[in-house]
Amino acid sequence: MGDLPVPNTLQIKSYKGDYKAEFVENALAEVGKLPIDKTQLIVDSLVYELYKKQFEQYLGMHKKIFIVASEDNKNLDQISSYIFELVKHEVKIDHTLVAIGGGIIQDITCFIATTLFRGMKWAFIPTTLLAQADSCIGSKSSINVGEFKNLVGTFNPPAWILIDLNFLKTLKSAEIYSGLGEIFKVHMIKGIEYFEKALQAYDQLRQSPDILKSFIQNSLIFKKEFIELDEFDKGPRNVMNYGHSFGHAIESATNFTIPHGISVTIGMDMANFQSYKMGRIKEEQFLKWHQGLALNYKAFQAVIIDLNLFLSAIQKDKKNIGKTLSLILVRDVGSIEKIAVANDQLFKDNCSMFFKQYFNEVC
Ligand SMILES: NC(=O)c1ccc[n+]([C@@H]2O[C@H](COP(=O)([O-])OP(=O)(O)OC[C@H]3O[C@@H](n4cnc5c(N)ncnc54)[C@H](O)[C@@H]3O)[C@@H](O)[C@H]2O)c1
Ligand SMILES: [Zn+2]
Repeated sequence: MGDLPVPNTLQIKSYKGDYKAEFVENALAEVGKLPIDKTQLIVDSLVYELYKKQFEQYLGMHKKIFIVASEDNKNLDQISSYIFELVKHEVKIDHTLVAIGGGIIQDITCFIATTLFRGMKWAFIPTTLLAQADSCIGSKSSINVGEFKNLVGTFNPPAWILIDLNFLKTLKSAEIYSGLGEIFKVHMIKGIEYFEKALQAYDQLRQSPDILKSFIQNSLIFKKEFIELDEFDKGPRNVMNYGHSFGHAIESATNFTIPHGISVTIGMDMANFQSYKMGRIKEEQFLKWHQGLALNYKAFQAVIIDLNLFLSAIQKDKKNIGKTLSLILVRDVGSIEKIAVANDQLFKDNCSMFFKQYFNEVC
């Protein structure tokens, strides 16, 4: 955006000590320098297939386990099979687990690193836009239990992160939109002017790697402010869940047909719609932002979202207290805050109205 410093290395303060996220040209070559007898790689199978040559060149001798990045594989039921594989590779407490993949591989690796031998070192090479711009910092890991998404988890940051933008070249467009959704989220939390600049840069973000890089850097800088203030998500960091209560309910109601960051984009639009219906922002404001946000989810507007499944999922959101929904909404021009909203007919009608207006079909 030109008005903020964008360092190639970002240092983040954590309860475990500082850690660094560094932009590099060839992350796999860097990982190749790690000692073979002290490193275990946990690799996204698709990333391995796409970058086989580089893996063979730099990491041919390193021990690896491969995981297909799916929500089913990010389930507690599967964790023991990954641990058995690591044990077969003679994993020891002084080894470093290196995750190479997106948020799914990150969550699995972080969870294992926190619990195996009561804790070991882990590091991360994020290969999706979402992981590079958002999830790689912040310490969280979440694992699904049965049909319940992200039900168990830990706070444990990686020892270091290497961000290699070359990985983004092979991402499917839906995964790019998904990452952009989280970039929009963190820009909105920083301030409406940042959010509007990000929306205006929408075409450039998809066309210019340099512009995309500066938005990734800024997203990490903005997120860093919140996680350093509230690493355990007890207060100020809650606003990072903007778009997420609605977004998670959409993911659940559509059986994860819509990638996470795109569901979050729809979720932000719904949060703004709800804010407008509650008189917190003007209709013109909602409509202006809607035009930008809808660009990021238009490829998924034909997906059928079952209103009842959506409502039942949002009611179960883990952030709710009692029967009241805990939502992150916007107000006037500039503030974003956590609000208790009654799960009443009015809320349901607003959700129904949003889906009817902006999605092709709703059961
Ligand atoms: N721990 C956190 O803080 C946090 C934050 C946000 C999301 N998440 C979790 O992360 C998951 C979503 O992660 P994600 O969006 O990064 O993607 P992902 O890990 O689900 O991967 C998405 C798809 O992209 C593929 N892929 C990965 N890298 C690729 C590359 N370079 N080229 C081509 N294809 C590639 C994967 O194989 C997969 O098919 C969800 O489970 C979500 O709950 C965690
Ligand atoms: Zn998210």
